[in-house]
Amino acid sequence: MSARPVFDPQRLTPMVDALVERGWYLAEGFIDAELSQALYAEVCRLAEQDALAAAGIGRGSAHHLRRDIRGDAIHWLDRESLAQRRYLTAMGELQQSLNRALYLGLFEFEAHFAHYPPGSFYKPHVDSFQGRANRMISTVLYLNPDWPVDAGGEMVIYSGEDASRELTRVRPEAGTFVCFLSESVPHEVLPTRLPRASIAGWFRRNASLGGRVDPAR
Ligand code: OGA
Ligand code: MN
Repeated sequence: MSARPVFDPQRLTPMVDALVERGWYLAEGFIDAELSQALYAEVCRLAEQDALAAAGIGRGSAHHLRRDIRGDAIHWLDRESLAQRRYLTAMGELQQSLNRALYLGLFEFEAHFAHYPPGSFYKPHVDSFQGRANRMISTVLYLNPDWPVDAGGEMVIYSGEDASRELTRVRPEAGTFVCFLSESVPHEVLPTRLPRASIAGWFRRNASLGGRVDPAR
């Protein structure tokens, strides 16, 4: 794979401005196309090999399955492929830029592949679980090339003040990248008609305090 940048650094200022002004940012063609193809091939292979696990809700010991709330299957990124390492390295650079611009004290990025089989969805939610989730900024990178307009699977972003007010619908097309404030931006994944692949990731702040270990996942 080439040494081209994973994303264009000129996008950083508009991203920071959008996060500050409205809490979310959306860009099509954000990620190098070759990298997004490699990541897509990897999640397809993981799905074929049955190497994805049904996703649940809640963290640590509170984690449980709720197919009525979310129907995706996931695999945490662990740097096992060059494509994963390139993506995680780019997100590390993004973390530094966000820290410099916003003083957020982000210290970690965690991310998983997500595979939504036909008929599945993720009901409206915010990404910061109750208690000590400490997720600050959520990211989603979409991986399906040529997503048909009638295939569903859009991510809907709602207003943080009025959760019934829809702000935008994101078509899950390869290379599209979204990020938003984890605690205050409600969103959902509409039922998909086709297998839908993405990488959901979160920049976290360290909340390990006084000997109580903050569960990593
Ligand atoms: C999530 C999520 C959105 C998407 O995993 O928390 O909201 O579009 N994903 O995949
Ligand atoms: Mn979410």
